[in-house]
Amino acid sequence: MPPITNLTDHLLKAHVFNQRSRELAEILNQIMISAKIVSHKTNRAGLTDILGAAGKTNVQDEEVQKLDEYAHDIFVRLLKQSPYIKAVGSEEEPDLIVFNEDYHDQAEYIMHMDPLDGSSNIDVNVSVGTIFLIYRKQSFGQNLEKSDYLQPGKNAVCAGYVLYGSSTMLVYSTGQGMHGFTLDPNIGEFLLSHEDMTLPEASNIYSVNESYQPKWDQALADHVSQMKTDQDISGKPKTARYIGSLVADFHRNLLKGGIFLYPADKKHPNGKLRLLYEGIPFAFLIKAAGGYASDGQQDVLEIVPTELHQRAPLFIGNKPDVKLVEKLLKK
Ligand code: AHG
Ligand code: MN
Ligand code: MN
Repeated sequence: MPPITNLTDHLLKAHVFNQRSRELAEILNQIMISAKIVSHKTNRAGLTDILGAAGKTNVQDEEVQKLDEYAHDIFVRLLKQSPYIKAVGSEEEPDLIVFNEDYHDQAEYIMHMDPLDGSSNIDVNVSVGTIFLIYRKQSFGQNLEKSDYLQPGKNAVCAGYVLYGSSTMLVYSTGQGMHGFTLDPNIGEFLLSHEDMTLPEASNIYSVNESYQPKWDQALADHVSQMKTDQDISGKPKTARYIGSLVADFHRNLLKGGIFLYPADKKHPNGKLRLLYEGIPFAFLIKAAGGYASDGQQDVLEIVPTELHQRAPLFIGNKPDVKLVEKLLKK
């Protein structure tokens, strides 16, 4: 019989037990609780209108909130309770949220998150997710410097995501190894289901919103066309899969092998995806799984962000596939 391991247990056993791993375990515990609450809410998403009165209030007389605002509020609330978190950057909030309570005085961690990724898929009952990225403060003293929360991805100490899919999964990495936990809703625990996840060598899938193809760089458009032929790097045509929730697209490609592309186009020189909430966390994770992420010019983990909500093109997946695109687009 395989051992039954929950997330907290795994965290404490997987790392050398020291103060740092204790802090991270505590932060991940807060993320885990938030994820359970959001998961529960997501599962009831279609019922809000039925149970709510006049679309304004629900059966408990609370105002019906959009799921992305709800997820943001839950994560911030739980993270605020952690004495180790100093600040949170969220896709849902223009400025960095800094915690100034006394018990945050010694806090050294900054977390960036996309509380609800794939929000256009909520109304159609398709998988959505949460993405997170954790840095440790570099400056000394209690104040937070810009360089503390705008660090390159290579400095991150942890990244992960929660996928609210046919089951809810939490996947995280602290750099070495990447592990997946599936929520058992009956006992309310995330149990280790995918230990040491690695990207398969074969890359069978290309994943891109091809409706933007007329606006792409010609070299990229030609390259994507080639993926559909036996001229593809794999020697046989790839198949297309695109969900429109980055978390779900990433997760599928991680398990099956492939490349996800969200390029720049004539209208959007930096693409759409956000560096700190989407690009860097997945770049950190794909590296731990043996893959690679590029913005078309360089390793995403080398980019030093200059703004919280900065966007960047993203090419991510099997290393040879992504390197090929990078070579093609490099100026
Ligand atoms: P969000 O819901 O957090 O704004 O993110 C949506 C993102 C991402 O999940 C997905 O990969 C991408 O938008 C899809 O964009 P297109 O509809 O342009 O393909
Ligand atoms: Mn998103
Ligand atoms: Mn979002």
